[in-house]
Amino acid sequence: MQKEVKILAIESSCDETSAAVVVDGRYVLSNIISSQIDIHQKFGGVVPEVASRKHIEVINFVVEEALKQAKISIKEIDAVAVTYGPGLVGALLVGLQYAKGLAYGLKKPLIGVNHIEGHISANFIEHKELEPPFVCLVVSGGHTFIVHVKDYGSYEVIGQTRDDAAGEAYDKVARAIGLGYPGGPKIDKISKEGNPDAIKFPRANFHDDSLDFSFSGVKSAVLNYLNKMEMTGGEVNKADVAASFQKAVVGVLTDNVLKTCQIKNINKIAIAGGVASNSSLRETLIKEGQKKGIEVLFPSPILCTDNAAMIGSAAYFEYLRGNIAPLNLNAKPNLKIGER
Ligand code: KG4
Ligand code: ZN
Repeated sequence: MQKEVKILAIESSCDETSAAVVVDGRYVLSNIISSQIDIHQKFGGVVPEVASRKHIEVINFVVEEALKQAKISIKEIDAVAVTYGPGLVGALLVGLQYAKGLAYGLKKPLIGVNHIEGHISANFIEHKELEPPFVCLVVSGGHTFIVHVKDYGSYEVIGQTRDDAAGEAYDKVARAIGLGYPGGPKIDKISKEGNPDAIKFPRANFHDDSLDFSFSGVKSAVLNYLNKMEMTGGEVNKADVAASFQKAVVGVLTDNVLKTCQIKNINKIAIAGGVASNSSLRETLIKEGQKKGIEVLFPSPILCTDNAAMIGSAAYFEYLRGNIAPLNLNAKPNLKIGER
């Protein structure tokens, strides 16, 4: 029998410091996440310099806790994996330097992981039987992509946002209607009490055959609507605004990902990233997918937001392909999907 591969993974690309131990890319022995949300909340968004400092403060504890919960000693680890992009450069560097130090000291291979590819791989943990090819919709606070996952570690980007990310639009609209940060979960919740057809917000449609997205238009339309109501003394129903905004966003995400399935002749969709927790996105995709015989998969919420287990999963497939990083690996804040 083949020996198990145990990977210690580290993630620090934004405002979560996380470490995990993952076996064979699918089995999570531990997944420790230290979130900084409380700290950034008072600023209404992530402050990069504060994020870096907080990562430094907790990273040692988070890694030790991950090993402790996994009940293994550091010497039993086969490789050290770390997110090296995309993300905030200062934040990335904390995890990267720590991982390089560990790999060097332990004489174990270092594996550099793309954060977005990590989000996609969260589905391999949740769905043990899932294998490529499938279409993945990655929707997070910083990114919006439709990716054709052709094989393990082999990606083709089909569509992406030309301005704001889906989660970013949720956060900005939430702030405008006074719901606070992070806004995604709050819009999700309040929308359940609102009428999604109350206000007609625009959906961006590109005239070429592109499956790209644009969310700044719908965000501006919400801001204009709120301004107009303020100037005319009209009453704003927050739940209706949230539900109508959400309908526009979920509609375009659903349409484009279903079109991708049709073009690529694929009947499996996986969703990933923080916005993949959104209940309306899940319900709409499942319902519309069913009509076309398309299976829709998503990870549990803890694997949707930033975590190191997903990085450990993506790293395993890189490890199998022999993609070992040099110890001078640098952080790449704008790392592209599939770039090595
Ligand atoms: O993947 P993630 O943790 O961080 C990035 O890599 O960006 O995603 C965070 C984003 C935030 O914009 C947050 O508002 C959004 O995911 N989010 C949601 C929901 N839960 C988190 N958006 C809509 N509905 C939700 N339930
Ligand atoms: Zn993320």
